[in-house]
Amino acid sequence: MSPPSTTLAIANQKGGVAKTTSVASIGAALAELGHAVLLVDLDPQACLTFSLGIDPEDLELSVHQVLTKGLDPTEVIVETDDGVSLLPATIELARAEADLLTRTGREHVLRSMLEDLAAKGVHFDWILLDCPPSLGVLTVAALTAADGVLIPLQCETLSHRGVGQLLDTVHDVRRFTNRELEVWGVLPTLYDGRTTHARTVLETISETYDLEVVEPPIPKTIKFAEAPAAGRSILSTSRSSKGAAAYRQVAANLVTRAAR
Ligand SMILES: Nc1ncnc2c1ncn2[C@@H]1O[C@H](COP(=O)(O)OP(=O)(O)OP(=O)(O)O)[C@@H](O)[C@H]1O
Ligand SMILES: [Mg+2]
Repeated sequence: MSPPSTTLAIANQKGGVAKTTSVASIGAALAELGHAVLLVDLDPQACLTFSLGIDPEDLELSVHQVLTKGLDPTEVIVETDDGVSLLPATIELARAEADLLTRTGREHVLRSMLEDLAAKGVHFDWILLDCPPSLGVLTVAALTAADGVLIPLQCETLSHRGVGQLLDTVHDVRRFTNRELEVWGVLPTLYDGRTTHARTVLETISETYDLEVVEPPIPKTIKFAEAPAAGRSILSTSRSSKGAAAYRQVAANLVTRAAR
């Protein structure tokens, strides 16, 4: 029997809530803990790919051909300096939504790809899916492939509005394409703990939608802005910063959650 593998979709259709930063940082933290990690860039903007030190413009093949043409993912997966494997994206992925739209079983493309990978004996302890800021085909495919969904959330008044819609999509996915999908909770990001406002918003959202909060909140710090340019996550560029410590703790908590 192969060892267990956990696939988490990091999703929120709201832009700029630190989905990509969370995928890169949690991935690096899990790798530090000795886990084999695969990160999948599902955003045509390819920010995850870029932030891990790979220039999408230099790539001929990406997750796009894997999803739309059935290319073997092992031909595309690259190793990064952060110690994680990456299935990179390029701007070509922008066409995937259109290319997949008329395909039967499009929701399952990512799931089948991951199953094929496992069947070949390529094992990862963790697979993190960096979703684009939309509820389109790629996000639905990610939710269909995932065991759990983690929702990064910036705790400000209007961040409420998208959460209901995202949970409706999760509900549909559970009904139609992935019965096993579990909501692992919200991850407070860009968190300014000095304001009571942030904490109030967080409490309201978690109560309104009956969502667990994945602790600890990730503090807002300038260090995060510097990391992507270095091609490494904040865990290596700013090893002892509060942000890095928070992501390490989140990763440890996810490991505990997965074992439950
Ligand atoms: N804790 C933090 N403190 C300060 N800045 C942060 C923090 N986390 C992320 N950022 C910055 O916020 C911006 C958005 O982050 P990121 O790209 O991870 O969000 P995203 O949800 O993936 O965005 P998109 O929806 O466009 O994919 C980036 O410039 C990032 O460097
Ligand atoms: Mg992103």
